[in-house]
Amino acid sequence: MKLMRSGHRGAISSLRRTSVRFHAKLLDSAAMTDDALSLLAAGASEPGDLAVEGSLRPRTLDEYIGQREVKASLDVLLQAARGRGEAADHVLLYGPPGLGKTTLATIIARELGVNVRYTSGPAVERAGDLAAILTALDERDVLFIDEIHRLNRAVEEILYPAMEDFALDVMIGKGPSARSLRLSLKPFTVVGATTRAGRISGPLRDRFGMTYRLDFYGEDDLTSIVERSARILGVEVDADAARLIAKRGRGTPRIVNRLLRRVRDHAEVHGDGRIHVQAVAEAMTILDIDDLGLDTTDRKLLAAIVQKFGSGPVGVQALAAVLAEEADTIEDVYEPYLLRLGFLDRTPQGRIATEPARQHLAALGFDVPAPRRAEPEMPALWDDLPAG
Ligand code: ADE
Repeated sequence: MKLMRSGHRGAISSLRRTSVRFHAKLLDSAAMTDDALSLLAAGASEPGDLAVEGSLRPRTLDEYIGQREVKASLDVLLQAARGRGEAADHVLLYGPPGLGKTTLATIIARELGVNVRYTSGPAVERAGDLAAILTALDERDVLFIDEIHRLNRAVEEILYPAMEDFALDVMIGKGPSARSLRLSLKPFTVVGATTRAGRISGPLRDRFGMTYRLDFYGEDDLTSIVERSARILGVEVDADAARLIAKRGRGTPRIVNRLLRRVRDHAEVHGDGRIHVQAVAEAMTILDIDDLGLDTTDRKLLAAIVQKFGSGPVGVQALAAVLAEEADTIEDVYEPYLLRLGFLDRTPQGRIATEPARQHLAALGFDVPAPRRAEPEMPALWDDLPAG
């Protein structure tokens, strides 16, 4: 995809770009959550890996691989905003973790030649916190709000006029003499990110000019991402080895990049440093990642449904209790790819492990008892046939 690189990005905007500010709370919480997650969970990485992960992130839409439709549409949105010299419309990105929501927010700011301020729903506790962030934004800046579905009500209500009219309504005084004062803000762009579009309130959703759903990446795109990352890391990777890593990457760039780094370690310690198929296969065996990219936690989850709940249906809370995991972690981190593989079904009665999931476990030597659910009875079609 070609982007017009026009001269409006002058010295001032490139100076501004170099001072991208980071909201510390986001980094802290991201690093913390990862402790509880497995290698394959797409949560952010350990502090050491975070720096490398940052270096692998594409910086422009041109560099960004995959999500073609999202890219094409964003390209138009950004070119138009740049052409008019206005703040871009607010953008909502949703989809499973690790698919590039933060990366896209950073790219949006960079393409617009403005700063990006990062925060998250849980980090903004009070209306005053958000007011402080909003008043510090410069003209056309990007405000990235991760996990935007977790903003509390009071904070969300500050955000409505801010997004719609670039206005901040502050209450002065208390009781009968309280007055509302409207302050104007510089025009800015909110990039909201969520794993749960359904949890965003209607009024908030309505304030986004564009909503994009990020989908799992295909094998070709993931292979290209592995090859690009290997180039940046300065490691040689055979084409079939890159594809093997991509196949184990659960459709998720953050995971393939993490696997690549672990395979690189393995190749450096046990081989000549070059990544070939054998190095990938050995590293995957050590990491206990199977042919489909599932790790111990995924298999435990499926095995729990199959062995303890007769293959389902089972509610996510019961599953969370058995696995000693948060229900939200199961829903946000583990389930999306299992659903995508067709290994899980979500029904109003609960989760069901499907026949392919049962077969996968059986092939790996798991005990797979008969499902508890009654198979839907085949209607006796001929019963309903008109006589004659
Ligand atoms: N690294 C992580 N995500 C990427 C993407 N979408 N394109 C290129 N490199 C990436």
